[in-house]
Amino acid sequence: MSPDTDPKESFAFSHRARDLRRSTIRVLFDAADQNPDAIRLEVGEPSFTTPQHIIDAASSAAAAGYTHYGPNGGLTSLRELLVDKIQKVNGFKPAFDQVVVTPGAMNGLYSIYAALLNPGDEVLLPTPGFPNMDETVRLLGGRPVFYELERHNGYLPDPDRIASLVTPRTKALFLNTPNNPTGAVIPPERIEAILSVTSERGVWVISDEVYDQLILDDGLPYLSPGSVDTSMPIISVYSFSKVYSMTGWRVGYLVAPPALAQILRTLQEPQVSCPSTISQKAAEAALTGPREPIEAMRSAYVRNRDSAWTRLLELGLEGFRTQGTFYMLVDIAKSGLAPLDFSLRLLEEGGVAVAPGEVFGPGGDEVVRISLANDRENIELGLDALSSFIEKAQSQTS
Ligand SMILES: Cc1ncc(COP(=O)(O)O)c(C=O)c1O
Repeated sequence: MSPDTDPKESFAFSHRARDLRRSTIRVLFDAADQNPDAIRLEVGEPSFTTPQHIIDAASSAAAAGYTHYGPNGGLTSLRELLVDKIQKVNGFKPAFDQVVVTPGAMNGLYSIYAALLNPGDEVLLPTPGFPNMDETVRLLGGRPVFYELERHNGYLPDPDRIASLVTPRTKALFLNTPNNPTGAVIPPERIEAILSVTSERGVWVISDEVYDQLILDDGLPYLSPGSVDTSMPIISVYSFSKVYSMTGWRVGYLVAPPALAQILRTLQEPQVSCPSTISQKAAEAALTGPREPIEAMRSAYVRNRDSAWTRLLELGLEGFRTQGTFYMLVDIAKSGLAPLDFSLRLLEEGGVAVAPGEVFGPGGDEVVRISLANDRENIELGLDALSSFIEKAQSQTS
């Protein structure tokens, strides 16, 4: 008798496992995989291979014996370099023991919620927003409460709205700038206004800045919430994945108040023991090596954003001009279709895969997300197909 065939309760999976939901984006991936000619604009990662000097550093590190377990919370040498990076890029200098290296930002975020949440605690999440947060908060017994981001307000979080959602059960506010999927960057004054709400109401801020060096407009002011007042209860989360095109290496890092940072390091032991040692040596090379390959990737996203935006306007489509990240939201309300139906049909009839807005929560019900991390020509072809499909859907419904 196997667990698959025996309905006995003793073989049943946990409630937690049974409540897991499959992301709608996976439905799209599976459908797109069936069509080898599809233009893939649904993906959430850079199209570039990791720069060569980073790959070389990993090979040398492996050859030199960096093939063993490392300390919880990361190698001292990497953490020291990260103190410098955070000072230069994010504008504040954390103490060494506040920096924790994690196997990807995702594991850092998981550990943060594990360290903060008791059953029923509420977490304020943006919608549209990074979908994994909703699932992680639920998995750990918390309750997601959404604050809306609206295009007509530049997809910026509204401090008054956030204040109105705070209850005695609110434990944390998740902020994401630049934001996936909207591409909006929160202006400094707005960040300060939000932080005054959270500090007055006793709410942790989890500041996800994994796209911190992918601001596409030169001179657009960028403020890391952690730099506003280092004594505030803020946890800043960063990653090598997007900026350095290192998604598969799984290296993220965070800055937390010292007592929490200690808990987050300890929490690695029962989950992952430590981040990959080889990947951490690669991450060191990313920080110390030449900037040109990194800047070249950002410049390609800027060019793609510019051409995508021009094409979108030429086609009479509506959307949001990306300020940071490599995503763009396109409005599909005129098609009269829900985003998932729209995306599946666009894939089948137009050969273009896009991420349906439902993936990003209730605020994504009229949009799809396209990736700017692709060839410019593919992005333009994709927008053309999307526009033709909206017209086709419109003519079928009218
Ligand atoms: C906003 C946001 N945070 C975190 C992550 C996870 O990054 P990592 O690859 O470092 O786990 C992603 C990945 O898509 C993301 O978009």
